[in-house]
Amino acid sequence: MTIQPNDRPLLEWTGDSLAIGLFEDAVELTGELATLDQKFAGVLKELIAEEEFKGKANSTIFTRISGNSPVRKLIVVGLGKPEALKIDTLRRAAAAVARVAKKQKSKILGLSFPLWNNDPEASAQAIAEGVELALYQDVRFKSEPEDKAPQIETVELLGFAGQEAAINRAHQIVSGVILARQLVAAPANAVTPITLAETAQTIANEHGLQLQILEREDCEKLGMGAFLGVAQASDLPPKFIHLTYKPEGTPKKKLAIIGKGLTFDSGGLNIKGAGSGIETMKIDMGGAAATLGAAKAIAQIKPDSEVHFISAATENMISGRAMHPGDVLTASNGKTIEVNNTDAEGRLTLADALVYADKLGLDAIVDLATLTGANVIALGDDIAGLYTPDDAVASQLEKAAQTSGEKIWRMPMEEKYFEGLKSGIADMKNTGPRPGGAITAALFLKEFVKETPWAHLDIAGPVWTDKENGYNGSGATGYGVRTLVNWVLAAGE
Ligand code: BES
Ligand code: MN
Ligand code: ZN
Repeated sequence: MTIQPNDRPLLEWTGDSLAIGLFEDAVELTGELATLDQKFAGVLKELIAEEEFKGKANSTIFTRISGNSPVRKLIVVGLGKPEALKIDTLRRAAAAVARVAKKQKSKILGLSFPLWNNDPEASAQAIAEGVELALYQDVRFKSEPEDKAPQIETVELLGFAGQEAAINRAHQIVSGVILARQLVAAPANAVTPITLAETAQTIANEHGLQLQILEREDCEKLGMGAFLGVAQASDLPPKFIHLTYKPEGTPKKKLAIIGKGLTFDSGGLNIKGAGSGIETMKIDMGGAAATLGAAKAIAQIKPDSEVHFISAATENMISGRAMHPGDVLTASNGKTIEVNNTDAEGRLTLADALVYADKLGLDAIVDLATLTGANVIALGDDIAGLYTPDDAVASQLEKAAQTSGEKIWRMPMEEKYFEGLKSGIADMKNTGPRPGGAITAALFLKEFVKETPWAHLDIAGPVWTDKENGYNGSGATGYGVRTLVNWVLAAGE
């Protein structure tokens, strides 16, 4: 599929489906649209009236134009109130249109959308992202594709002539999102710590990043007892992945992105029981997936900040070698942890990854992790929890997420709750009481960052969606990649 920006006039456009965006309560056709309606014998006006179309955000209607028309179908998508237009509204509207056009077996789709904020570049990028994200289908695990309908071949963005760079930027970012979706969607017998390291190697080779993989022995030498404690029952070797993007010249900022990389989380000896969703726990490397997806995008975009992409990848399994509940582990900063629950394993792997990143002399660290069910209880499936003691990093991430359309919400780091992690035998336990469980998880992580401004995103909810949702199909969303890319780009400004 190619997305081409051009200035072909609406009235002269020819192709399979022509889509127009209309604002809420402003669906009377004026100017060019009135002429377009006349050209097609009033069918547009009829369609809007018959469907009682009000222009509500994401509502779509369409009609066939009879006869041998140069345009086969008209699609109308609502954009909501003009004053409420967000960049993500365009992204979602483009996705909605692309889906309708695909169902209508269109090969050539024309899109006529207004600008967000008088910004053709940001608008073109968001529209292109919406189209690409919505049309992506994962057929890797089907023996035969079920969907044999023709694919959309060309999408024309009308009125966006000259926006090739923005569309290319969208494509680079989407390539990272799709990588993240593929990694999360793949089952635990396909994506393992070994294949995650191989994926990092592929990114390094294709886009010229540096890669260091620390094997178990290397991690032992660094004293990563928390990470290795989680890894010790798996038959697969743990891989500590460290990819580095370095810009030409002096970097404006030095940043790290860390992702939880549990390729499967059985819970360990505190095994996940019936109804716990154990069969979904291939998603527990969603943080690592976002990290590698961001690496792929950033390596192509080449911003002027240095970025370290880190994941302590392993499985959480059971065997005769498994951690016993109650074991005491020593992390690489010397802190001791009583593992009162082996299912709170993500924070153990992140502990050593944070200590490692903290020593790199960076300006900021962001970690992403499918860390707690408690975060899903607090914020639901669509919203990530943002936990940080640092107001500056918090507002950077909130701004980045605003542009990406990925929802985040800052949560309190209530220091008092650390009491719930007090241990009689070690420096801390890895689990506190159930109430505030996502907060104590974040407070646990904070113990492993001393030098660097840091934020943690709990993405246990938005990493996956059961139903089609905006530009996400059902399944893995690739959540985080777009926010991370925006964050890194803004850091250089
Ligand atoms: N990977 C899970 C968290 C999770 C839950 C991710 C649901 C995605 C969807 C994590 O390792 C875990 O098991 N957390 C426990 C922590 C508890 C033992 C303190 C949880 O949330 O129940
Ligand atoms: Mn767990
Ligand atoms: Zn987990």
